[in-house]
Amino acid sequence: MNISVPAKDIKIELKNVHKRFGKKIVLHDLSLTIPKGKSLVVIGGSGSGKSVMLKSILGIIRPEKGSIKVDGKDVTKLSTSEREKTLRKFGMLFQNAALFDSLPVWENVAFGLIQGRNMKRKDAKEIALEKLGQVGLTTEIGDLYPAELSGGMQKRVGLARAIATDPEIIFFDEPTTGLDPIMADVINDLIVNSVQKLGATALSITHDMASARKIADYIAMIYKGEIIWAGTRDEVDNSGNEYVDQFIHGRADGPIKMDVLKP
Ligand SMILES: Nc1ncnc2c1ncn2[C@@H]1O[C@H](COP(=O)(O)OP(=O)(O)OP(=O)(O)O)[C@@H](O)[C@H]1O
Ligand SMILES: [Mg+2]
Repeated sequence: MNISVPAKDIKIELKNVHKRFGKKIVLHDLSLTIPKGKSLVVIGGSGSGKSVMLKSILGIIRPEKGSIKVDGKDVTKLSTSEREKTLRKFGMLFQNAALFDSLPVWENVAFGLIQGRNMKRKDAKEIALEKLGQVGLTTEIGDLYPAELSGGMQKRVGLARAIATDPEIIFFDEPTTGLDPIMADVINDLIVNSVQKLGATALSITHDMASARKIADYIAMIYKGEIIWAGTRDEVDNSGNEYVDQFIHGRADGPIKMDVLKP
């Protein structure tokens, strides 16, 4: 089950990717096509391998088997310098925001501009403050440190950092989790804009179906480290797949079993 687009429209392609930690198989023969300039949302339960999949594409985690191609190049086989070059195409919002505690907010956002693109600090700060504005944070926030912000504000700083360099590819790991519903929708709009205005390729992971419906061109479902269904946003309601149905309706009963003790 995969998304079918002509080869020229493929930005990222995972084929038969396997990853295990000790005895635990986390990615099990995972294959997924991510179309260029579109927004793909991956849904799936906790622990199903979503974050590990993202980190594998970024080369932070190395799979034992399979290929991961970005613009036709297998990132699992790159040298360190080639990998750094490829990484510059990406903006990433980590699930836990992962900000640098010792740097003020603006410098967190400007990090990729100063370090990756050798931009002057003054120019980078200007862009950082503009990106903070786009995620609803004021200029004064720029001079605070991450520890001085609420969880939702930290998340938004993480988002501003992810889009700071206007990257070709943006990964969002749980972009709306922990945000109030209004701010979540502001972030949804920002993701849609990044794809439509900048032509970026977006890969988002979320449990939030309202967000998925708003930001996705395509939706894929991961279950036990495997993509078990993929299609367009509109197809998700008639997937004919009982795992997808259970997930999108949030039902406790169905083929997906949670490892919890029943009272
Ligand atoms: N570095 C690691 N070392 C060992 N096990 C890991 C590591 N990273 C992830 N895992 C394991 O891999 C499995 C999948 O983790 P992953 O973080 O991808 O889940 P997820 O689908 O993102 O879940 P969630 O929705 O809760 O964020 C989990 O069982 C986790 O414990
Ligand atoms: Mg995760």
